[in-house]
Amino acid sequence: MADYLLAIDQGTTSSRAILFDRGGNIVSIAQREFPQHFPRDGWIEHDPEAIWASVVATCREAIETAGVSLERIAGIGITNQRETTLLWDRATGEPLYNAIVWQDRRTADLCQRLREQGHDESVQARSGLLIDPYFSATKLAWLLDNTDGARARAERGELAFGTVDSFLLWRLTGGREHATDATNASRTMLFNIHTQQWDEELLALFQIPASLLPEVRDSSDDFGMCDAQWLGAELPIAGVVGDQQAALVGQACFEPGMGKSTYGTGCFMIVNTGDTPAVSRNRLLTTVAYRLKGRTTYAIEGSIFVAGAAVQWLRDGLKLFHHAAETEALAKETRDGHSVYLVPAFTGLGAPHWDPKARGAIFGLTRDTGIAEIVAAGLQAVCYQTRDLQACMSDDMGVPPGTLRVDGGMVANGWLVQFLADMLGVQVDRPTVLETTALGAAYMAGLRLGWYRDLNEIAELWRCEREFLPSMPEAERDRLYRGWLEAVERVKSGV
Ligand code: G3P
Repeated sequence: MADYLLAIDQGTTSSRAILFDRGGNIVSIAQREFPQHFPRDGWIEHDPEAIWASVVATCREAIETAGVSLERIAGIGITNQRETTLLWDRATGEPLYNAIVWQDRRTADLCQRLREQGHDESVQARSGLLIDPYFSATKLAWLLDNTDGARARAERGELAFGTVDSFLLWRLTGGREHATDATNASRTMLFNIHTQQWDEELLALFQIPASLLPEVRDSSDDFGMCDAQWLGAELPIAGVVGDQQAALVGQACFEPGMGKSTYGTGCFMIVNTGDTPAVSRNRLLTTVAYRLKGRTTYAIEGSIFVAGAAVQWLRDGLKLFHHAAETEALAKETRDGHSVYLVPAFTGLGAPHWDPKARGAIFGLTRDTGIAEIVAAGLQAVCYQTRDLQACMSDDMGVPPGTLRVDGGMVANGWLVQFLADMLGVQVDRPTVLETTALGAAYMAGLRLGWYRDLNEIAELWRCEREFLPSMPEAERDRLYRGWLEAVERVKSGV
């Protein structure tokens, strides 16, 4: 009898493979970082072969570490960095160019032109998104126009487009499946979230030939069989879901109003809005939370581009420490209420500002500022930005902010989560399983494979490890947050 599910979590800076048991407990885990390429200011690329190699290697390692035979693995769930755009040759499976990463800003001018031409409203009405280089549509248009012969080959039907999930599916199934799920499709800016179809008007606006597109399926669905050559046996792929929506599932936020915030490379706060594709008045996104048996559940999302990436920059760029785990001790060394602000707008600002041309800065340096204050400011920036989103969310939902579930690598840092609770003024819950993204993918596969009857059964598996209660006086909270708002104003490009 099969006792395990394999979750592939293909993230922005690393790939992970995790084996889960039926209770949603981690049995084994393997992780590999891969190189980030920054060919120009604001450009970020990944080598698709490095992504692929890291996925195969981590899957093999996770299975080997667990020491379980392949018959005991029921199937595979895939979750992935969203929006990142790939174009490959249908005949050979070879990518035509590097993957253009979601953080990449190379299409900022094109987006600005489209906004000036007045397309914002109709794009938002159809896709739920705001015109920004973040999403796949303009990245794909760039690939078609800047890769030799690509547009002509696309017109002839020789090429395939996909986000990372589609690319992995294609490779894992030996080119038999060209598919994606509704959550990933909803991040391309080519998909109509109301009709659940690729949108002809959006395809025309971005000049994307329909022959490039993958088939859109439910998040819990039949995605074909993984070839035996990769892991040693054929395994069904039964779940595909974008990583932030996967975390929403892993956090069991299945009721309207329930929300989570994930602190990975970026930070993404998502609140379930049920059957209603609620439209934000505060420049947040409307997105697909998951689609099960053809029924779509929607969410509102606030996307911040840099969270863990700031810690990575402090570590690798400024070389202020060796391991991310050291940031907690460093932050604890700072005196309360210091006023150093780090605005990590390295690739512009996401929600609610949407300013692709803003760039990062550090403010408030004094003679006694040291490494600890700069590191703490990097952590605090993530919390301040979450408060920006919280204000927008609660205004959009018309209810005061409630308890927030958090996850992602950064929330292992208790100092950060306490500051977050203080800044938000609400209870923050940290679950026992922090790998909620991978867990959500496993749950989607498990639903399809009959491990779980429904979402209620999954919700019963969620466990809280620690509740963080706000303890900072309100006046201090407001003073610190005002300083942040001033700092953000100073980095905006004015576009
Ligand atoms: O939208 C981008 C997001 O999916 C990336 O997630 O976990 O790699 O920061 P992560």
